Amino acid sequence: MTGCPSYYVTTPIYYVNDKPHIGHAYTTLAADVLARFKRLDGYDVMFLTGTDEHGQKIERSAEKAGIDPQTFCDQVSAHFKDLAEAMNFSNDQFIRTTEDRHKKAVQHLWKALEDKGFIYEDSYAGWYSVRDEAFYAESELIDGEGGEKLAPTGAPVEWVEEPSFFFKLSAFEEKLLTLYDNDPDFVLPKSRLNEVRSFVAGGLEDLSISRTTFKWGVPVPGKDGHIMYVWIDALANYLTAVGYPDVDAEAYKKFWPANVHIVGKDILRFHAVYWPAFLMAADLPLPKRIFAHGWWTNEGQKISKSLGNVIDPYDLVESYGLDATRFFMLREVPFGNDGDFSRKSFVLRCNADLANGLGNLSQRTLSMIHKNCDEKLPAPLDFSKEDNDLLSNIEGTLEVVRGHMDRQAFHLALDAIWTQASAADTYISVQEPWKLKKTDPERMNTVLYVLAEAIRQIAILAQPIMPASVDKLLSQLGVTERGFDQIGAAGRLQPGQAIPKPEGVFPRFELPEEGEA
Ligand code: ME8
Ligand code: MG
Repeated sequence: MTGCPSYYVTTPIYYVNDKPHIGHAYTTLAADVLARFKRLDGYDVMFLTGTDEHGQKIERSAEKAGIDPQTFCDQVSAHFKDLAEAMNFSNDQFIRTTEDRHKKAVQHLWKALEDKGFIYEDSYAGWYSVRDEAFYAESELIDGEGGEKLAPTGAPVEWVEEPSFFFKLSAFEEKLLTLYDNDPDFVLPKSRLNEVRSFVAGGLEDLSISRTTFKWGVPVPGKDGHIMYVWIDALANYLTAVGYPDVDAEAYKKFWPANVHIVGKDILRFHAVYWPAFLMAADLPLPKRIFAHGWWTNEGQKISKSLGNVIDPYDLVESYGLDATRFFMLREVPFGNDGDFSRKSFVLRCNADLANGLGNLSQRTLSMIHKNCDEKLPAPLDFSKEDNDLLSNIEGTLEVVRGHMDRQAFHLALDAIWTQASAADTYISVQEPWKLKKTDPERMNTVLYVLAEAIRQIAILAQPIMPASVDKLLSQLGVTERGFDQIGAAGRLQPGQAIPKPEGVFPRFELPEEGEA
């Protein structure tokens, strides 16, 4: 094993019943930013995403489309793969639960649970929601408008009666509560931990983990007619990807347990209750964190196909470019909270922070250097207190950003970085380098050098969120070494470096017309 620290981040694997939308792009973006951040910070990273391809929901969707389930999965899974490319996601793997390696892993996990005495055969009679792929107790159901019973999520439910294997979830109540008490950061944000804790404290029933009334799933080993409940199948993907059941595999030793599973709040219970219970039962180490983020709505409305207001990530990228889209999603809404998407807030945010913020700062600085310093980075004289303050604050921001990233507080991390861009703006207005050209050209050189240095470091810090645009900016500055070890004096720009006529990196957008979505 190499000496680098390791970092394993995952997204949910998405159901292939439908095309990807903004919600899927959002979760994977968050994981991508963490993965990129950790790589730049010297970690060996495993970033996993993929698709969840079994279960009744997929079987029925394939039926409806009139194609066999495997072909259907191949087609829809490809859309998710394409999205990862279009969004510039840097995932190291894309897993599919229909892969052989995964079937092998989940069957092995099943046997481990069985060997340890946590699985028994019985029959299930109760409510099931195919849309949620979840069992619900009668007491959890709500009444629909026509008096029909609905899942608490609003999804339809159906009555199911069939032979089934059960997992002894009830045996893990105390252990789970102890886990939450001993490690209050196991689930973030805190409000979500409280939600999970009260669910568990309310009492856990054993969980049905096999189905017998349809076929599309991983067969239960040694039990004809039973296929695994899609959630035990799906959760195990996080182990499959690092080589389980081969616990001597290099990837497994290096990356398990995962540092963080990023999920939406809709699937918190599966990740923060069932998953640690399965792992404890199998005697496997637990992931260090489950982060459950919030829900996007569109101009105030729940996003749904029937309302026809699904936000297509490709549309956003086409309208505003990829990096503005990436920036907006993580800058606008505190990660963990629900967020409302509106074109107006998109345009306002990106114009303020990108076009007028970092964009304008670098455009002005690089143009002044190009024009006044012979197209080369000037050599500075001694730094003044203001020069040193600006640069040392930026240098100190790395540690601040690290702290926020380790709690998945993207909005705070970005805020800390952009605070430095504003500080550099203030520095420009105070130093007035355009006036120094006549009065004190040597001081002008120093000021422009300090600004170029400030931009270099801000850009290095901003790489995870906007890799392509920042790459352009760093190239204009001639920066090739871009890791976080270059923050501070270690990576100082070389005077004499050619500075070409700068090209704008962040476009300014028009506000949408009133009433236009
Ligand atoms: O639940 N806002 O897959 P899924 C924010 N296969 N995020 C959203 C969103 C929205 N409006 N809509 C979807 C499954 N998401 C299972 C997971 S994991 C072992 C198995 C995101 O296709 C969010 O991350 O229904 C949510 O948790 C996920 O998509 C659900 O994707
Ligand atoms: Mg879903």
